[in-house]
Amino acid sequence: MLPADFFANRPSADRRQWLRGLASAALASTSLKAAPTQGITLRFSHVVAEKTPKGLAAKRFKLLLEERSGGRIQVLIYPNAELYGDHDEMQALQLGAVDLLAPSLSKFGRIGFPEFELFDLPFLFEQVADVRRITQGRLGQRLLARLSQQGLVGLGYFDNGFKQMSANRPLLTPADFVGLRMRVQASSVIAAQMRALGARPVTLAFSETRRALASGVVDGTENPISNFWTQRMHEVQTDLSLTEHGYLGYAVVANQRFWMKLTDNDRTLVGQALREALAFGNLIADTQNDKALMALRQVGTTRIHTLTDGQRARLAHAVKPVHQALAKRIGSQWMVDLNQALKQHARG
Ligand code: LMR
Repeated sequence: MLPADFFANRPSADRRQWLRGLASAALASTSLKAAPTQGITLRFSHVVAEKTPKGLAAKRFKLLLEERSGGRIQVLIYPNAELYGDHDEMQALQLGAVDLLAPSLSKFGRIGFPEFELFDLPFLFEQVADVRRITQGRLGQRLLARLSQQGLVGLGYFDNGFKQMSANRPLLTPADFVGLRMRVQASSVIAAQMRALGARPVTLAFSETRRALASGVVDGTENPISNFWTQRMHEVQTDLSLTEHGYLGYAVVANQRFWMKLTDNDRTLVGQALREALAFGNLIADTQNDKALMALRQVGTTRIHTLTDGQRARLAHAVKPVHQALAKRIGSQWMVDLNQALKQHARG
């Protein structure tokens, strides 16, 4: 409340000015009060099962945002490629048919951002902490900023984890891969990785992978175990080899028009809920993959092979040429910056 003598010494013109200010502020606040009735629906589409790091992070985002907006902002999640899959999700986002996606970083090369395939370089990262030094550093922010070239807003990164190899034979040495048709994501780096092992890469949508394994269209694939398990790939693959040969993570992207139409307040609400949901996703990713491995051991359909350090080293040696061969596609400056960022981390 204003002090009683607030007007005592003020000239009448000043008072009229102040009252005009008060009136417009009151009007604004009533129109803001009217805002809650103008609800917003945010459509979030992704291709994996609900009980995966990405699926659970999406649900956490929904919970946080709906709670904090008092239900004014509704989040509709479409998991399992129910709405859009690998073939059409990015286009759907650019056209505004959905508002948010969280594609694997491997899927940005195909829409004109080959620099994102640096995350696919085999045996590049030893641990998730190395990845976070990229995604949470300048290099990661520069990558996200580039997405605006295609009407996208890069909102953040989060993990699934390290990929394993599966087939109907153990995959312990490069010779084991020769002649196999291996399903890969649409990434030139991952395709080159499979060729370096003597296998034949077959690019398929994630949602088509299990059917392709079951029908013999492909012989094997790679993914973190949470995806392998939740897509029931263990029912059609006799061997899982714990190669830990590459990283799989995600970037959350919004449609730029949708994002710019939000009020500052709503952008802050969405951004905060997303940050907390991605931190939650990172927190549970390891556990989800460990739980899936435990379940796999219990169900006993698939032989699980742990590689010796020597076997992993021989695989790493076989795919090392991919780094040099694909440096031009990724971009030589991006490679320089990547190695610098990783070296900085190594120096601690
Ligand atoms: C794949 O296509 O194998 C993965 O990107 C699926 C996912 O989004 O985790």
